[in-house]
Amino acid sequence: MDVDLAEVELSTLVGQVTGEYQDKLDEAGLTLVCKNTDGELRVSADSNLLWRVLDNLFVNVLKYAMPGTRVYVEAGEKEEGVTLSISNISKAELGISGDELMERFVRGDGSRNTEGSGLGLSIAGSLMELMGGKVVIQVDGDMFKAVLRLKKS
Ligand SMILES: Nc1ncnc2c1ncn2[C@@H]1O[C@H](COP(=O)(O)OP(=O)(O)OP(=O)(O)O)[C@@H](O)[C@H]1O
Ligand SMILES: [Mg+2]
Repeated sequence: MDVDLAEVELSTLVGQVTGEYQDKLDEAGLTLVCKNTDGELRVSADSNLLWRVLDNLFVNVLKYAMPGTRVYVEAGEKEEGVTLSISNISKAELGISGDELMERFVRGDGSRNTEGSGLGLSIAGSLMELMGGKVVIQVDGDMFKAVLRLKKS
């Protein structure tokens, strides 16, 4: 796959993706809360691939988040790089670790009766690796959090 790394303004991309999904989030009864995503955060990424990663994550949020709850998108800057996390409350019991959910064909306990093949997160992980980044999934009870680690530009 062609990877075209360039300087990407994370706040702009996040604004575009959240704009794209705002109506669907409203329909799903989900309230988006963005934190620290307005500042200048320049990352080294392929904007098309990063878009696909965020797209995969938002499709999941629409499918698996508990209606009537908030979805948090938070950016953070560290010495090692930039993080972008998306967290939500799962409507189904996950009963499985974040590392396991990253594996191909693995799905949460309570979502096995819904459609899906368990590939989205592992694809997101591979795309992030192509950009020198990473996806880490954290599960704590019903709390689901995807943390993207990106390189600074
Ligand atoms: N935002 C989320 N909130 C709660 N659970 C999630 C969320 N995202 C993923 N999951 C859980 O992780 C599992 C794996 O997600 P993944 O995107 O890899 O596969 P999928 O959505 O089941 O299928 P596919 O993406 O291939 O259509 C999901 O089945 C669900 O149990
Ligand atoms: Mg998915």
